[in-house]
Amino acid sequence: MFYPQFRARRIRGKEVFRRMVSETTLSANDLIYPMFSAFGKGIRKEISSMPGIYQQSIEHIVAEAQEVHELGVPAVILFGIPETKDAVGSDAYAEHGIIQETIRALKKEVPGLAVITDVCMCEYTDHGHCGIIKDGDVDNDATLELLAKEALSHARAGADMVAPSDMMDGRVMAIREILDESGFGNLPIMSYAVKYASGYYGPFREAAESTPAFGDRRSYQMDPANRREAIREAQMDIEEGADIIMVKPGLPYLDIVRDLRNEFDLPLAVYNVSGEYSMIKAAANMGWIDEERVVMETMLGFKRAGADIILTYHAKDVARLVRKGYELALSTGCGCP
Ligand code: PBG
Ligand code: ZN
Repeated sequence: MFYPQFRARRIRGKEVFRRMVSETTLSANDLIYPMFSAFGKGIRKEISSMPGIYQQSIEHIVAEAQEVHELGVPAVILFGIPETKDAVGSDAYAEHGIIQETIRALKKEVPGLAVITDVCMCEYTDHGHCGIIKDGDVDNDATLELLAKEALSHARAGADMVAPSDMMDGRVMAIREILDESGFGNLPIMSYAVKYASGYYGPFREAAESTPAFGDRRSYQMDPANRREAIREAQMDIEEGADIIMVKPGLPYLDIVRDLRNEFDLPLAVYNVSGEYSMIKAAANMGWIDEERVVMETMLGFKRAGADIILTYHAKDVARLVRKGYELALSTGCGCP
């Protein structure tokens, strides 16, 4: 196709045509909203590095979840801030732990909203690592037992889906087995299959109070330099029984999202993590970028890379903008370069 026979601008000249040939769409159905549930009553504390996102006690979680549901977002993913932490993360699998109680309240008050739980130990251990420590490192196989117990206790409390985020080898199999044995054969697992050791989790660790007390997570999370390894990680989790696979973080790893999309048929999720959110919020706050435009462009980028599902702290804003017909507004109005 050569100029001047072909002119790419012809089809861009009218807003109706731009709509007609648009290749990627975004819907509230694509979104999952992360929430931080804190032990106690009357708590609603904004996370300083994540404006608009709160650590909140159950009654406030329920109220915001109601709003999320009314906006048409199908699911939330829960993180817990327990009353006490210990070396083995007891609250993670306690019958009346913070997450278990939050699930019960949400399923009672907002039954139409799907409740997904993050299955990991780091929010519940006093050392902040994602498993049990032996000889200064996280012990893989000892951790598997606890993760399985945690997932089962979430299922028993009424969770609609569990999402292991620890990056231990074999955790999807361990969780699938215990769920199947215990009458939860139909409960889906969304695996954080490809999770990199990332600096972009910084603000989340403030939100979840889960910064490791020593060392870092590089002995279990992936090296940001690795691409082929992502395929292997996803393959393992699929073989172990994952129903949805996830890539995390999002923006610096769009090549990985595309690789997994091309390689596998499973539903694919991407986690637009805390640091990505904070950067947009900070720049918008300075007046340096147009927040709505940048957020929507970011979401489209995830979908274009091949993600079906986006976990994002922007979910409520995105749902509102989609409802207002934002994509239309973007292609008609802005007069931008
Ligand atoms: C827990 C977990 C983390 C995130 C989700 N689950 C943090 C970590 O691994 O340190 C990050 C989410 C975000 O940054 O928004 N394992
Ligand atoms: Zn963790």
